[in-house]
Amino acid sequence: MMEDFKSQINADNLPNHIAIIMDGNGRWAEMKGKPRVYGHKNGVTSVKEVIEGCREIGVNYLTLYAFSTENWNRPKMEVRTLMALLVSSLRKELNTLVKNNIKLNTIGNIENLPEKAQVELAEVVEKTKNNASLTLTLALSYGSREEIVNVIRNISKKVVNNQIALEEINENIINNHLYTFSLPDVDLLIRTSGEKRISNFLLWQIAYAELYFTDTLWPDFRKENLFNAIVNYQHRERRFGKTSQQIEKIND
Ligand code: FPP
Repeated sequence: MMEDFKSQINADNLPNHIAIIMDGNGRWAEMKGKPRVYGHKNGVTSVKEVIEGCREIGVNYLTLYAFSTENWNRPKMEVRTLMALLVSSLRKELNTLVKNNIKLNTIGNIENLPEKAQVELAEVVEKTKNNASLTLTLALSYGSREEIVNVIRNISKKVVNNQIALEEINENIINNHLYTFSLPDVDLLIRTSGEKRISNFLLWQIAYAELYFTDTLWPDFRKENLFNAIVNYQHRERRFGKTSQQIEKIND
C-alpha cells in the first residue's frame, strides 16, 4: 500500500502549472514481454489518472509531453499507433472533458500531424474552449528549440516591418510569441522512468520550475504518484534567486 500523500498536500501552496515528461512506456512493455505499443496503450490510463488528480486537488494547468519532434524518427508502426491512440482517446474522452470543465490546448507543430488527428484536436479544442477548471495542454510534435527559433523569426519579422522596436524586445514579448503564450510559467516538472534529462521540453518555460524525477515507469504512474510529487514540491524552498531570509520576510 502506498502512503496517503493526498492528505499531506497543502491546498494553499499548490503548483499552478505542472508539466510532465511521460517516459518509460516502451521499457514497461518490454519488461512484460510485450510490444512497445502495449506500453503506450497503458500509458493512456496514467494520463487519465493525472488529469483526475489535478482536478481533485485544484491544479489549474497540466502540460503533457505526448510526442516530440524527435519521436517522428521512431518506427512507422509505433508512430501510427501513437497517432491512432491520440485520436481514439480524444474521441472517447471528449464528453468527460466537457463535463469536468477541462479546456484542451495544444502546443507544437500541429500541422505536421496526420489530418485525422488535426481534425479531432480542432474539434475538442473548439468544444472545450470556454472551460475553466483545468487547462490541459498536449505537446504534440513539440520541440523547445524549434519553438524558440520560430519566436526569433516572428519577432525579427516584426522588427523588420517596424511593428516592434529592437529596444522593446524583453521577456514579456518573448513569452507572448511562444506556443505557451496563454500559460503561466511551469512550477513543477515531473519526469518518469529514472531518466534525468529535459529532452528539449519547455526550455524557456521551466527557468524556475522545481524538477522531480521518479523511477516509476509512466504506465505505472497513478494519482498517488502525482500527489507524492506535489508533497515533495511543497517541501522545497523556491527562492527565485533571492536569499532564504528575503523569502521569509515575503511570507511574514
Ligand atoms: C515515452 O515512452 C512516451 C511517449 C513517447 C508517448 C506518450 C504517449 C502516451 C502516454 C499515450 C498517448 C497520449 C495521449 C495524450 C492520449 P517511451 O516510448 O519513450 O519509453 P522508453 O523510454 O521506455 O522507450
